[in-house]
Amino acid sequence: KVRKAVIPAAGLGTRFLPATKAVPKEMLPLVDTPSIQLVVEEAVRAGLTDILIITARGKGAIEDHFDRSPELEALLESRGKYDELKQIRALSDLAQIHTVRQHEALGLGHAVAVAEAHVAGEPFAVLLGDDLIHPSVPLLREMLRVHERYGRSVLAAQEVSRSEISAYGAITPEMIEENLAKVRSVVEKPPADEAPSNLAAIGRYVFTPEIFDALRQTKPGHGGEIQLTDAINLLAQEQAVYAFTFEHGRYDAGNKLDYLKATVELAIEREDVGPTFSTWLADFVQRKKLV
Ligand code: UTP
Repeated sequence: KVRKAVIPAAGLGTRFLPATKAVPKEMLPLVDTPSIQLVVEEAVRAGLTDILIITARGKGAIEDHFDRSPELEALLESRGKYDELKQIRALSDLAQIHTVRQHEALGLGHAVAVAEAHVAGEPFAVLLGDDLIHPSVPLLREMLRVHERYGRSVLAAQEVSRSEISAYGAITPEMIEENLAKVRSVVEKPPADEAPSNLAAIGRYVFTPEIFDALRQTKPGHGGEIQLTDAINLLAQEQAVYAFTFEHGRYDAGNKLDYLKATVELAIEREDVGPTFSTWLADFVQRKKLV
């Protein structure tokens, strides 16, 4: 049974500069919640109880976010702000959260390799904060079910348009049933006209520990970084790797434009700000003659 989740959060976040000069990308909020909190909550919902966040220099805010905060708690209590107090306490009780540092941003594959000692030979999940999954979509839970069935690694995969595929790992699938394919190969960020399909690997994975052997053999690839995709491709030549396909409920938050879209979508869904924000947005669109 999978108990452990690894959340790589050691990237430089260059696409969000200048915000990410001093603030970790993973702490940028969607409305009022840092993206890394949404990802940790997703892992917990899927039943994962041991969470390892891969951090780096300058990412101390991530550790603080999941730590107890006695001064803040005392202050909220003395002011009778009990709802906020409950929220803050719940955060530090979410799960067993560990951190380890990636000393140099050598790529996502390298960041996952840093988790090897903690993972200690067990199967584990990897979740990236660049992809946010709607809380109503049990994607990770379903991927864990596929893992239980086959005992192998499982990727999340989604059809994207031809023009978008060059931003993802592109999968060559062999469909075996609805929503499930075997991965024949996967290639990182191919030019659109060379992509083997429009099926993109999304930032949720369940891995067998053999991924670490594959990572050890992986040389720097696209962008000079150790690419997780390249290691998955190696692994798929050694043992079956599955792709679980899904359609709805993913918000891209890895670049400015998509982060803006995700913020608007999530804000509109909120019970507190949603209704007023929707009314304002509709009015704004009319005033600016956007449609
Ligand atoms: P990205 O390439 O999207 O993240 O990596 P980045 O490097 O932070 O962002 P940009 O491209 O410079 O704007 C995907 C995920 O892998 C992690 C990132 O934190 C992100 O969650 N990552 C990437 C690492 O942990 N270490 C790395 O060396 C690279």
